[in-house]
Amino acid sequence: MPVHLPRLRRRRHLLCAVALVAAGNAFACSVEQAPAERAASCARTLARTINFGNMLEHAREGLAGPMLRDEFVVLSKQAGFTAIRLPVRWDARAGYQPPYTISAEFLARVDGVVKLASAHGLSVILDMHHYASMMMEPQAEQARFVALWRQVAEHYRDAPPTVMFEVLNEPNRALTQSLWNQALAEVIPAIRASNPRRTLIIGGSEWNSRHSLATLALPKDDRDIIATFHYYDPMPFTHQGAEWVSGAGGWLGTRWTAAQRSQVRDDFAAVKRWAETQGRPVFLGEFGAYSRADETSRVAWTTAVREEAEAHGFGWAYWELASSFGVLDPHALSWREPLLQSLLPTSPVLKSKR
Ligand code: BGC
Repeated sequence: MPVHLPRLRRRRHLLCAVALVAAGNAFACSVEQAPAERAASCARTLARTINFGNMLEHAREGLAGPMLRDEFVVLSKQAGFTAIRLPVRWDARAGYQPPYTISAEFLARVDGVVKLASAHGLSVILDMHHYASMMMEPQAEQARFVALWRQVAEHYRDAPPTVMFEVLNEPNRALTQSLWNQALAEVIPAIRASNPRRTLIIGGSEWNSRHSLATLALPKDDRDIIATFHYYDPMPFTHQGAEWVSGAGGWLGTRWTAAQRSQVRDDFAAVKRWAETQGRPVFLGEFGAYSRADETSRVAWTTAVREEAEAHGFGWAYWELASSFGVLDPHALSWREPLLQSLLPTSPVLKSKR
């Protein structure tokens, strides 16, 4: 309805201005920028990101982790994080028949988090996560996947540009790279119909492995896309004792020392070369070591991965805030200082500076 457009535009500009002032950088991440410029500047706002994992990406909030508390947002800002990645399980809150309507109550829940984070000057990644049926039967699920994104995208069309859409977490199993490329060819235009100037975040198959970037088909003429990958190498160290990984019990006791750092450097250098040939910003969307690893090794690995990401110009997101990899104790609302120090060495909330 054209009659409403000027009002909507004004509102959108106002929201953007609020976000920019809150972010403290008048040149960061704006709808006025050209697409490639926007992707680069939005990526810079993801410099130090924290995953709000195991909160909204299960069938019910609180099922496999803490309820998301407003304090988590406030504490993350105070600690020095610049953004939150918000994994959301939309498919569990939507109808199974067309038009696959998403629950209004759940949308309102997500809105509350997005608004609170934006008001605190944090960028937000709305990440479609744990979409199990898309991994099992991607072709049968494709229409629903696109319909979910149409709804989410339309709902957030006026959100500030610091709210980014991550199209799907960790494509895996039956969702091969070739099927994922086909799915992208349909879902990106569906999102772009309502969000022509929204920065998208997209990774490859095999659980967003760095290797899959080489065969990821991103539309060449859409420059408003940040490429993403996840890093949990070596798995026997980061996933030792992880109940959801078969054989991980046998990895308990695996240590990691800074002597292994050159592997991380080489792995990231390869991603950087890919990024340069493609002309895309890169975001390390998940990395972390499970809490059953010894603390000294976890701190050494987390420090090394975080430093190498920064040295290669990748924004990063630690997996995760307050669950089994967590940097925050969700009950005491206190930081696990050695781990926080490995992520944010100059954080104002650290009591003991090393
Ligand atoms: C998954 C989590 C898991 C983590 C580490 C994430 O992508 O969603 O459930 O804990 O990876 O394995």
